[in-house]
Amino acid sequence: MSGGAPPRVAVRDIGAYDGLAVELAGWLYNARSKGRILFLQLRDGTGRIQATAIDGETDADSFARAARLPLESSLIARGTVRAEPRAAGGYELQLRTMQVVQEPAADYPIANKAHGVDFLLAHRHLWLRSRRQEALMRLRSEVRAAMHGFFDRRGFVLVDTPIITGAVGESASSLFTLPYYDLGEAHLAQTGQLYLEAACLALGRVYNFGPTFRAEKSKTRRHLSEFWMLEAEVAFADSDANMELQEALVLAVVEHVLDRCEPELAALQRDTAPLARLGRPFPRIAYEEAVRIAQESGADMRLGDDLGADEETAVSRSFDRPVFVTDYPRAAKAFYMKGHPADPAKVLCSDLLAPEGYGEIAGGSQREDDLDALVAALEAHDLAAGAYEWYLDLRRFGSVPHAGFGIGLERTLAWIAGISHVREAIAFPRTLQRLYP
Ligand code: 4AD
Ligand code: MG
Repeated sequence: MSGGAPPRVAVRDIGAYDGLAVELAGWLYNARSKGRILFLQLRDGTGRIQATAIDGETDADSFARAARLPLESSLIARGTVRAEPRAAGGYELQLRTMQVVQEPAADYPIANKAHGVDFLLAHRHLWLRSRRQEALMRLRSEVRAAMHGFFDRRGFVLVDTPIITGAVGESASSLFTLPYYDLGEAHLAQTGQLYLEAACLALGRVYNFGPTFRAEKSKTRRHLSEFWMLEAEVAFADSDANMELQEALVLAVVEHVLDRCEPELAALQRDTAPLARLGRPFPRIAYEEAVRIAQESGADMRLGDDLGADEETAVSRSFDRPVFVTDYPRAAKAFYMKGHPADPAKVLCSDLLAPEGYGEIAGGSQREDDLDALVAALEAHDLAAGAYEWYLDLRRFGSVPHAGFGIGLERTLAWIAGISHVREAIAFPRTLQRLYP
């Protein structure tokens, strides 16, 4: 290239420019010097690269400025790309000139030292720039794309369900409530399921993907007040078909990530062997069997209780792949699940527990498709039938067996990324203790 400005290039694509002059736009995230050489670590959102400034070779003004540039200065760097086997990524930029876009007046709060998690969460808007958080956000985006692709290929229709809802979707105990004009109180959606049930009777196979809200007064590593959930609903499907669909989805997502996210998984130091080993079928165990495993591992629970986080961890550790726990006691689950034909005290449902101790990532069930049984279930759960008239209509007009599930994006990502807490799996986590940033 002769004359003119060099092309603006993303670090990710730098390998195609070996030996050529390029321009990079990004931020300084680390710097050190050795004699007359400055090693500037730059990031541009697509990757990280070392720019080398040499006294006498780099433009003199740029060199002087680079020598005292604070971390997280934004800049435009120009120079020549060189293959450098010792550099992470295999290339470096030999800096010719540098233009500073903005130079911070204060020291960057997140230094290259260990910070407590409270400090990091309070600086989440800056913490996102760190290599690990960048990797997590890219992985999240890929997991989401893999899920959309999976349903798209199978002919599902994406139906966006409302976030402002009238009826309780899941449980009256974890509602966010807001005043709604002259119509009383509304709630933020805990699930889009009831609406997807209506949509699947119109379109056959449907899914949604959106924010979901639960006023969970628990401080576990698995709970957020706002999380993203994909839900699918299929007409003329039973609980077995529902589990097959979840199994295929999870395998497709893991395959997509292993295929496309090697640098991110490496940045997170994720041991990918347990993911690469996954295959069909995922074991299916009855609720009683799960309770037995949990009790044997020391859990203080009784038959009839729902599986808590510790119990799920115990069960999940007993298998090398995700496991379905099926047919829970009716009393432990939501109102809309279909009674088990062999035992009316149980419901046709499944929780999918991820391995390596992660626990529940998806919950699903066959839905109660019989009008009278559903009315009785609403009563048993103290839910006002009036709010569900439209939902009951689905059982009055062309009711069919149908089933669906919801899979939590943050929990799925936490497992695939191998991180210990869901709060890092979303850009700006909402929890009991945190509303800012
Ligand atoms: O098991 P849940 O409550 O199921 C439902 O909401 C059904 N209506 C779904 C359906 O059948 N259409 O939630 C589904 C998933 C959980 O398995 C979990 O991954 C995630 O949503 N989830 C949460 N993730 C983070 N924080 C929370 N507080 C969560 N609550 C549920
Ligand atoms: Mg659940």
